[in-house]
Amino acid sequence: MSRIAIIGASYLQLPLVVKAKEMGLETHVFAWEQGAVCKEAADYFYPISVTDINSILDICKKIKPIGVISIASDIASVTVNHIADKFGLIGNSFESTRLSTNKFLMRTEFLNNGLPCPRFMKYTEPFNSKLMQELNYPLIVKPVDRSGSRGVTLVNEFLHLNAAIKEAEKESFSNTVIIEEFIDGREISVETISWEGCHYILQYTDKETTGKPHFIEKAQHQPAKLAPELKNKIYQIVKHGLDTLKIKYGASHTELKITPDDEVFIIETGPRMGGDHIGARLVPLSTGYDYLKAVINVSMGKFEEPKLLDDKYSGIYYIFPKPGVLNAVEFNNDEHIVEYDVLINIGEIVEDIKDSSQRAAYYIYQSDYKPDFNPHALILTTR
Ligand SMILES: Nc1ncnc2c1ncn2[C@@H]1O[C@H](COP(=O)(O)OP(=O)(O)OP(=O)(O)O)[C@@H](O)[C@H]1O
Ligand SMILES: [Mg+2]
Repeated sequence: MSRIAIIGASYLQLPLVVKAKEMGLETHVFAWEQGAVCKEAADYFYPISVTDINSILDICKKIKPIGVISIASDIASVTVNHIADKFGLIGNSFESTRLSTNKFLMRTEFLNNGLPCPRFMKYTEPFNSKLMQELNYPLIVKPVDRSGSRGVTLVNEFLHLNAAIKEAEKESFSNTVIIEEFIDGREISVETISWEGCHYILQYTDKETTGKPHFIEKAQHQPAKLAPELKNKIYQIVKHGLDTLKIKYGASHTELKITPDDEVFIIETGPRMGGDHIGARLVPLSTGYDYLKAVINVSMGKFEEPKLLDDKYSGIYYIFPKPGVLNAVEFNNDEHIVEYDVLINIGEIVEDIKDSSQRAAYYIYQSDYKPDFNPHALILTTR
């Protein structure tokens, strides 16, 4: 039986493990035991941190995988590419990984390659107030190497800048912080698959967030509503961005902001599927394309040009209960809802939400038209 090494075992990786097994592969999953949702589903589970490249390499020497993959985290992509390199498997280069896992390096590379970016600087001590004067408020302060909006804050005035920097430093693995101008407008993402440096755009996704100050995703919708000219502009920017980051293989997720006068800014590209079920669930629901199967095949050196349908809508809504103690969950079925999940238990405390990992529940829809938000589909009450 052919073996595949899967790096990371969080809930975001579960569809990957399930799909790989469906494809007849023997799954070897590596991750910390804590929160390893995929442990049960995996054929073999190794309680090794995704960052412990040497230990994973040692095991891979024995199991000889024909592919190595992760769809969820930027940290795991570093390990994936190391292993791919050592065993001559499909992966992106070290240089590509370096650029795409650090928001400051990524920004610098985008800027040097003429991509539209907000103005930005790396925070250094002592505080470079001269450089700071070149940036206009409001500003976004964030760690260079985290995801899930951890440590991301909007700052409206100098008075609050230091607290935001400290918060971002605390979250950053390397204590490094980037400060950039805030681009006001709508936000979209673009889901892609790459093969031998050719990039195929699979879907455009509209994102709704909680807005200031933490911008936590509260809904995602596919396809994004975009006029043809704007869509074409985004298409060019995304392909150029992927080339700039030297991404050659596999899934990527690019986030962009669009101002009211259709100016497009690139926020970032992750060399992985979009979280929030965007890649694994929403893309197949809206396009009919088996994105998971395709990225697994890419990791094993196989690729076919995507064939996409464009007649369906899909999306996800997150539920934000009032802070308190969760006391009841009520699900009112709707024909468009294909899945829902409540991520906390009755009796658990719901806190004022600061990042996306604290979201309490969600449901996913698919439809022939874009359904309006049904606020009564899933109700979580607290007291
Ligand atoms: N310069 C900016 N202008 C406007 N909004 C921004 C900017 N930078 C970040 N944001 C907002 O903050 C969100 C999180 O920022 P970013 O994507 O850089 O961090 P992250 O931790 O990788 O989050 P995620 O994993 O959710 O993508 C973005 O999706 C966007 O809504
Ligand atoms: Mg992001």
